[in-house]
Amino acid sequence: MSQVHVLDHPLIQHKLSIMRNKETGAKEFRELLEEISMLMVYEVTRDLPTEEVEVETPICKTKTRMLSGKKIGIVPILRAGLGMVDGVTKLIPAARIGHIGLYRDPETLQPVEYYCKLPADSENRELLVLDPMLATGGSASAAITYIKQRNCKCIRLVNLIAAPEGIMRIQHDHPDVDIYVAACDEKLNEHGYIVPGLGDAGDRLFGTK
Ligand code: PRP
Ligand code: URA
Repeated sequence: MSQVHVLDHPLIQHKLSIMRNKETGAKEFRELLEEISMLMVYEVTRDLPTEEVEVETPICKTKTRMLSGKKIGIVPILRAGLGMVDGVTKLIPAARIGHIGLYRDPETLQPVEYYCKLPADSENRELLVLDPMLATGGSASAAITYIKQRNCKCIRLVNLIAAPEGIMRIQHDHPDVDIYVAACDEKLNEHGYIVPGLGDAGDRLFGTK
């Protein structure tokens, strides 16, 4: 069963509360999503392996530690996942970036795929799938299924806000994928929006509504 990690650091909670406010405009919304993504990835990567290396400081040689193991790839789900990329790459600048384009059909709530391009060596990387909203879980589950079809095995899902329905869907469809969220909200409404949530993340990020 995949683990759910709730990253509720006070700074994350504070910034997320501003994002939830319907009066917050697109510029501030974008900046906050980037900042929270950076704070989240610091925790998401806490268990990455390190190895001992020798470094010569201006004073002497010393043994110290650097990252080892698989390289990182990040896969934002378009559109709203794009808002998390800059925050993550500020901390992991060498990460390769893939893109999966999915939108949720407003009537059926089923994900519709329209684009996919992953790094050529994705199967050798630890992949972080990024999307601010995990609602029914249909989009994230479809994205992860697609990534797995490319032989990728090390996958973590990073969301800002998750509904219980979305978490259950991922745990059912992908029990090997851990989920990292800033907040678990109460439920979905009749239109599949997260309650209380923050509204439509893509529209708020890009000012399209
Ligand atoms: C939103 C969000 C997720 C999806 C979540 O995208 O960014 O991808 O909905 O819903 P689900 O868990 O029920 O699948 P949307 O379909 O609005 O597309 P957009 O990012 O292009 O606006
Ligand atoms: N997608 C969003 O952007 N917001 C929700 O609350 C649910 C799906």
